[in-house]
Parts: sequence; structure tokens; C-alpha cells
Amino acid sequence: MTILIIGSGGREHAIAVALAKSPRVTKMYAIPGNGGIAALAECVPDLKAVELEKIRDFAVAHGVDFAVPAADDPLCLGAVDVLEAAGIPCFGPNKAAAALEGSKVFSKGLMRKYGIPTAGYEVFGSAEAALAYLDGCTSYPVVIKADGLALGKGVVIARGEAQARKAVVDMMQNKKFGASGNQIVIEEFLTGPEVTVLSFVDGETVVPMASSTDHKRAHDGDEGLNTGGMGTVAPSPYYSEETAARCMAEIFLPTVRAMAAEGKPFKGCLYFGLMLTPAGPKVIEYNCRFGDPEAQVVLPLLESDLLAIFEAVQAGRLGELNIRWKPGAAACVVLASGGYPEKYATGFSIALGEVGDAIVYHAGTRLLPDGSLVTAGGRVLNIAATGATLAGALQTAYAAIANVTFEGAFYRRDIGQKALEALANQ
Ligand code: AMP
Ligand code: GLY
Repeated sequence: MTILIIGSGGREHAIAVALAKSPRVTKMYAIPGNGGIAALAECVPDLKAVELEKIRDFAVAHGVDFAVPAADDPLCLGAVDVLEAAGIPCFGPNKAAAALEGSKVFSKGLMRKYGIPTAGYEVFGSAEAALAYLDGCTSYPVVIKADGLALGKGVVIARGEAQARKAVVDMMQNKKFGASGNQIVIEEFLTGPEVTVLSFVDGETVVPMASSTDHKRAHDGDEGLNTGGMGTVAPSPYYSEETAARCMAEIFLPTVRAMAAEGKPFKGCLYFGLMLTPAGPKVIEYNCRFGDPEAQVVLPLLESDLLAIFEAVQAGRLGELNIRWKPGAAACVVLASGGYPEKYATGFSIALGEVGDAIVYHAGTRLLPDGSLVTAGGRVLNIAATGATLAGALQTAYAAIANVTFEGAFYRRDIGQKALEALANQ
């Protein structure tokens, strides 16, 4: 089968690596792909992941049998609708179902309507109304969220009124995130460990994958700016069997049933961003695709054929599969460009030394015509590893990252430390 992957990050490389193991995959394309994906797939750097009509034409012309739009932008723009209308089946939600990530107003409304636990909230359609609400607000922090996609930057945790007012003005009057800030949500601040659960969903059946935890701040000790994610571990030590059963009954199945009841059945990977609050698990956010870098710790633990899962999700027969996972744990450490997540330079050559049993996923790299590899983004490489224990996986990943360098490279040295401490206290 000929497969097309749409996207260019470490997540897409992890998906490509997993799909390449399937004996039925004979050819892969990636739009646009990256320097690592290029070893497994023919990359098409001249096309962008959001150029849906051009992607469809490419897919038809190149005999693509199955497509995997893996990033939020193409999914929210309707990549699945456009490709499936041309007869190419896809793994992923259509545009209507992708609203679970594409619109916070939609997802919060769904949770309120169907009694799915989440932070209390109000929606505002004008800066005046939001500022008037803040005039009467006596308890901080509050969390302010732009309705639409904002490159992961549309959430502000405002510790006081001045910060809250500034966030409202930035989003709604100064249009910091364009039309994504036409509406905002102001919500209650929740506390507790954060856990991500990716799940396969075929419109009806939900199969959760291993739980995971991201490290969003740029520097050790959760200092520095928010990033797309500096490292992940799986499984999360906070996600007990009891919590998992509760999430299935109170959150996962109710969400999938609610989407079906709304006439928007969700198919694809549904990302549950959860907070385990003193009052029980609550939804912080939904994403309509694999997390990045969560996919880089979850997919290496998968034993079953990923293509067979993708096809079963698309065909609505996920319930027939028995998906198998490796025991143990996984860790991923992100190697980033100096200056990320603010200004950084690219084009530095990458030296890849001995990495042992670690897996090197490429996130922001480019393969030059002479075969050399250079940096091409903020998050450059993801060094992942599995192990019988989390400590073992972390050791393999950190031993490897010491042998991978480029000018200005930095990484967090404390990925998984909190998880190890939580395990030690269990
Ligand atoms: P999001 O972009 O929705 O993932 O939000 C970014 C981060 O903001 C989350 O990972 C949480 O750490 C934090 N966050 C979002 N909503 C809340 C909330 N209601 N209470 C506390 N923290 C939150
Ligand atoms: N790592 C967070 C995300 O993919 O949205």
C-alpha cells in the first residue's frame, strides 16, 4: 500500500517509523516531511501541510491508498473531508469532529451539555464583556483561552487582574492570534498532576494508549517559557488503574458518545489532556491528533501493526482488534535550538554519534542534497528510548543525547525526574 503522511515533526517521524514496520506498506510519501522522515518516505518539501487541494491532487496522481494527516492545522481545515471526497481513506477526524480541538467554545459547550467534568467557564464574544466580567472577578488565577488554534500559545494563566486584562486585550482587541481570538473562554484554575491519554477512536469504540506526561517549560525545574514540549515519559505514575477506569466511564466514553449524538462522530486519535484534581479527573483540553512529543513515547510501546489499527479506525471496526503493547516504559528528550521558543537560528550541521538502543526522531531537520543533515526548526531532534523501567528508558535516552550535537543545542536534564520521585513514593 502507498501511504501519505501529512506533517513535518517528530510526531510524524514516529508515525512513519511505526508504519514502516507494517509488511503491507510498500511506499510512503510525506508532505512536507523532514530530514529523518526522508530515510523512510519520499518527502515533498515544496507542498505545505495546509495546501489541501494540492495535497489531494498529489495523492490522486501518486496512487496514495491511505492518508494520515497528523497535525492540527490540516485536520481543522478539513484535510480528511477533502481527501476522502477524492476516494482516499484517512486516519483522522473530519473537519466537524476536529472542532473538538479547533474551537474551545465548541469543546467546552459539549462538556457542559453532556456533563463531562472540566473547569467551570464563561464564553465572551467581545473585549468589553470580558473586561466587565473581570471587574467583578475576585478570585485569581483565572485561565484565559483563545477559542481557536494559536500554535499552542493561546492559553494564559493570569495570576491577577492586570495580567488577565492584558490577555483579553491582546487576544480580542490586538488580535494577537487573529480570528482565533474573536471569542475567548475564561475558566476556573484547576490544580493537580497533568496526564495525557491518547486514544484510538472509531466513532464509537475507544481504545486508550499508554498514559504520558509532557514537560512544557523550556528549562529545568519547569522554568522558562512554554514550548511545544521538551520531553515526555510514558506511562504516567499518577494514572492508576482506578483513575483509568474512572476516566473511561466519566470522560472518554461520554465524549465519544456526545460527538456521535451531535452528528460529529470522531475517528482518529483523540488526545485527552487531563488534570487529576482533588475532585477527580477533569478535561483540560482535547486535541484531535497525536501529541508531539507524546507520540514519540507511546508509539514505541506499540506491538501491533499501526496500519491495521488506522484502517480499523477508518472503517469503524476498532472493536474487532486486540491491540497489543510492550510492557515497560518510554522516555523522550527534545534537543532544541539555542534561543527556542523565542528567536533561534537554523542551518547548523548536526553530528549524530553512537546512540545505542535509543531512537532518534527528527523534528526540525533538513537533509541537504549532499546528504548532510542541518537544523531547520526550534525543536530539532527527539531522543527516545524504551526500557523495562522508566529509569532504564531515561538512562538510554540521556546516554544517547550526549553523542548528538549541533551549535547552540540545549535540552532539559530533568525529564522524568518528577515521575521517578512519584514512583519512589508509591
Ligand atoms: P492547553 O494549551 O489547553 O494545553 O493549555 C496549556 C496549559 O495550561 C495546560 O497544559 C495546563 O498546564 C494549563 N491549563 C490550561 N487550562 C487550565 C486550567 N483550567 N487550570 C489550570 N491550568 C490550566
Ligand atoms: N505536546 C502537546 C501537544 O501536542 O499539543
